[in-house]
Amino acid sequence: MTRAWVVYESMFGNTREVAHAVAEGLRERAQVEVHEVSTATPLPPDLDLLVVGGPTHAFGLSRASTRHDAETKAERPVESSSMGVREWLAGLDDGGVHTAYATFDTRVNHPHLPGSAAKKAARRLRRLGGSACADPESFWVEGTEGPLVDGELERARDWGRELAHP
Ligand SMILES: Cc1cc2nc3c(=O)[nH]c(=O)nc-3n(C[C@H](O)[C@H](O)[C@H](O)COP(=O)(O)O)c2cc1C
Repeated sequence: MTRAWVVYESMFGNTREVAHAVAEGLRERAQVEVHEVSTATPLPPDLDLLVVGGPTHAFGLSRASTRHDAETKAERPVESSSMGVREWLAGLDDGGVHTAYATFDTRVNHPHLPGSAAKKAARRLRRLGGSACADPESFWVEGTEGPLVDGELERARDWGRELAHP
């Protein structure tokens, strides 16, 4: 059976919810674990599929400064304050990703706002040696702290299901 990891970064919890919904979809055909990014090492050598997701910050992957911004906005402690997908990917060895991969992000549902953390993460995973099994996907939030737009968790589940049935 396919062994898959879903690795996510999340400040306010929206990307975490999407990560779990993707995992639910994947679970129909794969053995899946979900890991918050700061606890997602080392990658197991027998992994078949790596799914990576994070919030879009400043048109791309978060940085320490944007996570700090999120922390100052949040009413509760944010989840991924110590590191994000950018730092996690930087910590993986060159050529160290031998799996198929897919990436997603969460972004504000605004027609004219460009930039996608998922596209940036996909580019890095390709350089690290992985092979893409799907186009980067975005899931929409209504505002900086969410909530997710109606229907996005169902869409995330369907996307996960499609990843499991290539
Ligand atoms: C500092 C900061 C910068 C952001 N920049 C963008 C952006 O460039 N484009 C966008 O669509 N959303 C942007 N957002 C909104 C985030 O994408 C949103 O907070 C995220 O999807 C929520 O996911 P989370 O609850 O998992 O953190 C930004 C949010 C923060 C806190």
